[in-house]
Amino acid sequence: MTMREKLEELERRRREAEAGGGRERLEKQHDKGKLTARERLDLLLDDDSFVELDRFVEHRCTEFGLEDRKYPGDGVVTGHGRIGGRKVYVYSQDFTVFGGSLSETHAEKICKVMDLARRNGVPVIGLNDSGGARIQEGVDSLGGYAEIFLRNTLASGVVPQISAVLGPCAGGAVYSPAITDFVFMVDGISHMFVTGPNVVKKVTHEEVTFDELGGAPVHGAKSGVAHFTHSSEVESLQAIRELLTFLPSNNEEDPPVRDTDDPADRADEELLEIVPDEPNQPYDMHRVIGSVVDDGEFLEVHEDFARNLIVGFGRLDGRPVGIVANQPAVLAGVLDIDASVKGARFVRFCDSFNIPLLTFEDVPGFMPGLDQEHGGIIRHGAKLLYAYCEATVPKMTVITRKAYGGAYDVMSSKHIRGDVNLAWPTAEVAVMGPEGAVEILHRKEIQEADDPEARTEELKEDFRETFAHPYRAAARGYVDDVIDPRETRSRLVSSLEMLAEKRDRNPPKKHGNIPL
Ligand code: HXC
Repeated sequence: MTMREKLEELERRRREAEAGGGRERLEKQHDKGKLTARERLDLLLDDDSFVELDRFVEHRCTEFGLEDRKYPGDGVVTGHGRIGGRKVYVYSQDFTVFGGSLSETHAEKICKVMDLARRNGVPVIGLNDSGGARIQEGVDSLGGYAEIFLRNTLASGVVPQISAVLGPCAGGAVYSPAITDFVFMVDGISHMFVTGPNVVKKVTHEEVTFDELGGAPVHGAKSGVAHFTHSSEVESLQAIRELLTFLPSNNEEDPPVRDTDDPADRADEELLEIVPDEPNQPYDMHRVIGSVVDDGEFLEVHEDFARNLIVGFGRLDGRPVGIVANQPAVLAGVLDIDASVKGARFVRFCDSFNIPLLTFEDVPGFMPGLDQEHGGIIRHGAKLLYAYCEATVPKMTVITRKAYGGAYDVMSSKHIRGDVNLAWPTAEVAVMGPEGAVEILHRKEIQEADDPEARTEELKEDFRETFAHPYRAAARGYVDDVIDPRETRSRLVSSLEMLAEKRDRNPPKKHGNIPL
């Protein structure tokens, strides 16, 4: 063969690999409203940046007639590319080849890019669309999954790992996305479950649809498995690109700083109006966050899950911060099991990747009740406490209103290494609110009073005067300053600048034992 002929053969083989499972199956994928593996990569990555690896890999299975059914690439497109000019490793499962099912070689391809990503300190993004373990390969495909789980675990805290679930993701296969840092799902297209509707019906006699069992809304709002949900694949892939703008490429880098025209000393008059005079009135903490961060841009994580706590990314004078904020507009901002777990996971992510933490605090305490106690609020609340305690990134806190009880300690207080703790004049730092305190301290006196109601009100007012302000905490240095709310942005910008070189270390250990 001449060189020209060899090149023609190479071109033919490349085309064959790009054809996946063939035109008919590609059309079927489109008919289901889904993009193909390669179209997804085109949307995810910068133009012309994708470099494919292992496009000629074939499976080794010789049973069930598979020796005659080989598709170059074996159901997953892998390689590297760029997002916003920065390197990423990627894999994208191709549902048109054996339903994107995972064979031994399919797994080897994924493992190869994961190893490259970890060794080179580059984020890895997996686009999942798969019928799970390739049934014809038996234990080889199960082993393949385990190899991926191991690599997910070893890469955890070393490079950011992002999973988009853009089709089925069932059985043990769910545990790879579950170990990664962020899971993206698309309404009507993504489904995740450990066992499908048929098995559920047999075992528990519950009748559920795919969507009810493991669709994007369910995992976005109820289980918390999905960190981001979108109504289209295009939006989902675009959101992955946006998320990466806040993240460093690995745990040895600082997050990328971006130029901004938003003045560092921008004062917002509206902040004076946000906290209502009446202490039990709700308000939306998003307004505080939006007014403080650069250009009001806030990328919320877990937007629909445990809405009593807000977490997400913003920037202060160009520097990314991870924001954790109680949300008085939902359940009065109380910390319950889901909120604690959500917050803990986010705090640990930020700490792993050198992203400073900014906490906005208005919390009446932990959620009371049988459900919560029996569900383990002690164990789960401890996760958030542990996560804040072990975090060594710069930690800044702004108390806008209530900082009550154990929740005061948990929410990045000075005592657990908060670096800069500020309070608005509306802050109330106390063991509990006036209602509870007066009831406990003065029960007898109230019972014996001529007018119990009036006496209760008087005592509550006394308590408020004594505790419902930030100056006792400030007198002890537990808050560093009481600030005019309008100064919040400028004080946070200067604090973050002041903490930029922070280097703190925890005692050497193999790893801690976070209460799971
Ligand atoms: C081999 C598979 C496959 C699999 C699908 N296909 N899943 N081939 N192994 N696991 C093939 C089909 O034979 C078909 O091939 C093509 O992919 C498309 O599948 P369809 O069924 O036609 O598609 P659809 O109707 O959209 O249904 C998709 C599906 C269904 C819901 C995913 O295929 C399905 O239920 N598959 C099995 C899911 C499953 O139980 N997997 C094992 C989970 S346990 P042709 O040639 O017709 O195109 C698991 C363990 C992991 O994964 C353990 C890790 C520890």
